[in-house]
Amino acid sequence: MANQAFLQYISDQLLMLKQAGRYRQPRIIDSPTDRRVMIDEKSYLAFCSNNYLGLANGERLKAAAAAAIREYGWGSGASRLISGSLRPHQALEEALARFKAVQSSIVFPTGYMANLGVISAVAGRKDTVIIDRLCHASIVDGCRLSQARLQVYPHCELNVLEGILKRSQNYARRLIITDSIFSMDGDIAPLPGLVSLARQYGAILMLDEAHATGVLGEHGRGAVEHFKLKDEPDIVMGTLSKAVGSLGGFVAGNSELTDFLRQRARSFIYTTALPPAACAASIAGLKIITGEPQLRQQLRQNTDYLNAGLIKLGFDAVGSMPLGSATPIIPIMLGDEARVMQAAAYLFEHGILIPGIRPPTVPRGKCRLRISLMATHTQADLDCLLDILRGI
Ligand SMILES: Cc1ncc(COP(=O)(O)O)c(C=O)c1O
Repeated sequence: MANQAFLQYISDQLLMLKQAGRYRQPRIIDSPTDRRVMIDEKSYLAFCSNNYLGLANGERLKAAAAAAIREYGWGSGASRLISGSLRPHQALEEALARFKAVQSSIVFPTGYMANLGVISAVAGRKDTVIIDRLCHASIVDGCRLSQARLQVYPHCELNVLEGILKRSQNYARRLIITDSIFSMDGDIAPLPGLVSLARQYGAILMLDEAHATGVLGEHGRGAVEHFKLKDEPDIVMGTLSKAVGSLGGFVAGNSELTDFLRQRARSFIYTTALPPAACAASIAGLKIITGEPQLRQQLRQNTDYLNAGLIKLGFDAVGSMPLGSATPIIPIMLGDEARVMQAAAYLFEHGILIPGIRPPTVPRGKCRLRISLMATHTQADLDCLLDILRGI
């Protein structure tokens, strides 16, 4: 017979979430993910995906995936080290190394799994991991899995980070980790300062370029390129699931590092490899990112246009960031949870899809609407959004 105490626990938890207004259910979309989506037979303007360059539903990614399906079938059938490494996996790792202008890369099934695998391979019980307060959940989970001592510094406060580094000399290894573009705030980590602190104190620096890949830098390589860093972080990871329009996580860097991760990263070793078609689509996405910088320019223009409009409307739109340094993630800070959920519902009623972000994703009192822009949004789309935002 089923464990009654366990069933009771589950139903109490669900009830508690419902009573607290924290019960969440996915909204089902009946169309490809694009600047407009269909929900319950109604069309919505969407400002909520990480498909920043609009590639996910593009003909070239679809054609690349379809061709790979015809040649290799759908599933990969096994983990990478058994028999799941098909030619498209190798081709993607080579394409990523070329894209990032480094020696080598290693691909994981998702960015989440890349973070889990890398952090737990690099840090252990005798080490400490020091992360920005606003690092993504996958970084936090990777740190927990590593069993290293987790220390957190306030968002982008390098003087506090330095204090922690000074007090942490007795750990075998010290690993500093930061997002390059923070996923809920849209600001950019102070990378030059982080690199110099890591060097000064002999720490390892790991950078998560999930939201910066394809978005920042002249060739879309990310924040390392954006800051024109000569001395690079020790570990750079990213995802293929956002601007690249596909699926997968990766680390790109020197070949000994990727070789080490192939031996030690459990989320690479003990899971089935990506479908080869996802690799083919990623290769097509990387090619577009490299060959069509105008997409990035358009995204930047859309970002500047919307920021200017939001400021005119009097929103606290860009938080601590000056206008002009913005990324396509634009939070509108509304503070209170009820206010944010009301605003999101109002937008939805008016044909706009923007999620309300609340705890546990962001701290209490820092609830926000998280707008994310695409290069393919038109000026009319942005004007429509601004017009409707006036109503909140
Ligand atoms: C900063 C950051 N790192 C990692 C991830 C995980 O990437 P993926 O969605 O490919 O698992 C995300 C995505 O949500 C992210 O925002």
